[in-house]
Amino acid sequence: MHHCMLFSRCYIDVILLTKAGALYMDDQFFHARNANAIDNTQATKLGNIPEHIAIIMDGNGRWAKQKGLPRVAGHREGMKVINKIVAKASEVGVRYLTLYAFSTENWKRPKSEVEFLMKLPDRFLSKELPKLKKNNVQVRTMGEKSLLPAHTQKAVQKAVRETADNTGVVLNLALNYGSRHELVYAMKEIGKDIEKGKLAAKDIDEKLIASNLLCSDLPEPDLLIRTSGEQRLSNFMLWQLAYSEFWFTEVLWPDFTEHDLLQAIQTFQQRKRRYGGV
Ligand code: FPP
Repeated sequence: MHHCMLFSRCYIDVILLTKAGALYMDDQFFHARNANAIDNTQATKLGNIPEHIAIIMDGNGRWAKQKGLPRVAGHREGMKVINKIVAKASEVGVRYLTLYAFSTENWKRPKSEVEFLMKLPDRFLSKELPKLKKNNVQVRTMGEKSLLPAHTQKAVQKAVRETADNTGVVLNLALNYGSRHELVYAMKEIGKDIEKGKLAAKDIDEKLIASNLLCSDLPEPDLLIRTSGEQRLSNFMLWQLAYSEFWFTEVLWPDFTEHDLLQAIQTFQQRKRRYGGV
């Protein structure tokens, strides 16, 4: 009896293995069974890499608090994560990476924290710009830059200028960005054209609105990632995320790794996007 059970268990295993071999013809199946084994090979083999990933980098403050450090230490650590995520995204074939670095609502934070956050682009770019250039990364920004301190604007402009001809992954930094602000701006632009008689109300359609948004030349994000367990959009790309897949993780942004990125991509690859169809 015991032998028989053992035999039948083995037999089922053999069938499963044979099936797996036939279906996958490689070691992908074994990787898929072990989340820790996610690697580039698997991500790229599955195909369907998201072209554009948007990330809400949340949880810096909590990360610092857990360690008994001031909130700004979390932002500093969070900044350090960006490089490796850009590198990994680029490696697996992501074309655009939009990072929410500062929102139009973040001005409400204590002055010292805002000042610190405003120093991060300078810090990041003064250290990393040579590497970004070498890796063919194109830096772009999205948001109302006129309200940023002069030193922040200068650092960002320099990076944008010096990487404009790069053809690799686009690193789009959302700085003083708010989606409602962006939509108001777009409506005003359209309104101006109506006042001038260039347009009529009946001409307003989705394409026209989309073309008046910031970074209208970028495709809409395929995948949105938000870290730290919060599940909301916080005024981020409301129009552009209409059909994006969302992936949330409890991991705090300073702890976010390449492995987490690959896990998000792998989940995306298993989703069926229907865009309202069947
Ligand atoms: C949200 O965490 C994070 C931010 C408001 C800032 C994100 C900025 C960076 C990660 C660095 C930006 C760097 C460059 C180069 C632009 P939180 O402070 O709201 O965290 P909490 O919810 O735990 O308080």
